[in-house]
Amino acid sequence: MQRSLIILKPEVLRRGLAGEIMARFERRGIRIDEMKLTTLTPEIAAHHYQDHIGKPFFQSLIDYIISGPVVVMIVSGDDVVSIVRLMVGSTNPAVALPGTIRGDYATSISENIIHASDSIESAAREIAIFF
Ligand code: CMP
Repeated sequence: MQRSLIILKPEVLRRGLAGEIMARFERRGIRIDEMKLTTLTPEIAAHHYQDHIGKPFFQSLIDYIISGPVVVMIVSGDDVVSIVRLMVGSTNPAVALPGTIRGDYATSISENIIHASDSIESAAREIAIFF
């Protein structure tokens, strides 16, 4: 049984898409173990995105993720890390396939509406930041 961390980014609540997106995970049979609505501080956002410090898009990434409330979830299931990543789609919505969450709801790489852990190790690190 694996665990993964999902963040529904501020645009999801601004656009009223949280229920729709959570329903996709529920329909797939992915269990939501923990969930909270929170607004990230710049410090927590930088900790979460520490691998991107120094990249040209880092500041806009932080500005966006702290721009409003987010939904943070721990989900679990067999192979949940890769299953969730496939459901989320490519980081760049311009190449995310229709049927994936980014492919259906996003057009901008910097505002790509959802984050999901990219490995079991990242999931453990990210879960410890938020829960
Ligand atoms: P996320 O899955 O939250 O993890 C890191 C984020 O950085 C990613 O989604 C994108 O929103 C953002 N990102 C990655 N690459 C770029 C890029 N080239 N330009 C702007 N934002 C990016």
